[in-house]
Amino acid sequence: MSLFITFEGGEGSGKSVQARALYRKLSRLAMPAILTHEPGVTPLGRKVARWLKWGDDMAISPLAELMLFNVSRAQLVSEVIMPGLKSGRVVICDRYADSTTAYQSYGRGLDLSAVRAVNEAAIQGLHPDLTVLLDIPVEVGLGRKKGEKRDRFEQEALAFHRRVRQGYLALARAEPDRWLVVAAEKSKEEIADIIWNRVKKLLSKKP
Ligand code: TMP
Repeated sequence: MSLFITFEGGEGSGKSVQARALYRKLSRLAMPAILTHEPGVTPLGRKVARWLKWGDDMAISPLAELMLFNVSRAQLVSEVIMPGLKSGRVVICDRYADSTTAYQSYGRGLDLSAVRAVNEAAIQGLHPDLTVLLDIPVEVGLGRKKGEKRDRFEQEALAFHRRVRQGYLALARAEPDRWLVVAAEKSKEEIADIIWNRVKKLLSKKP
């Protein structure tokens, strides 16, 4: 039963924890699933992710950033996501094209329609059935990461992260059927239950 679920959110939102929890739940129920994330995972994606997150010794323009995230994405779609869905699995992806719209368009200020066009080329028609947004005030999210080494994005000003958050909320408002917005300050268990209730409904509708 193929289903494509993506997780989105700002820094420290806990989306990776929830993506893992959903994957474990499906595995316990013997439902074939794949957990993957962006950027990275494929050999090409891992190299590109290192530049994007830790490339402090070179300039990366917003437009180059847009392209690089989509280089990693195009490879992940071809190598992991598309084969996974074709073989009838539930594919869970921690970040996907909406991250680029939120970070590179709302955050960096790139033209929205240009960002969408590049994303569309990379995803090759593969749109998520469900996108979970873990929404968190930026100070709270970044506060959860205190003491950790900060990558290029985590080093950005609060105003950047606020634009990203507003971008996500605008995307969710525009497509309410696809998005599930959850307040990330709830307990991990409460969030996992909300997500599972929605996933259960989707699974029951699938042939
Ligand atoms: P991570 O912290 O979830 O590993 O994501 C890496 C960082 O890259 C995170 O700060 C968000 C950022 N990012 C973008 O700016 N655009 C994208 O398209 C993706 C996938 C991530």
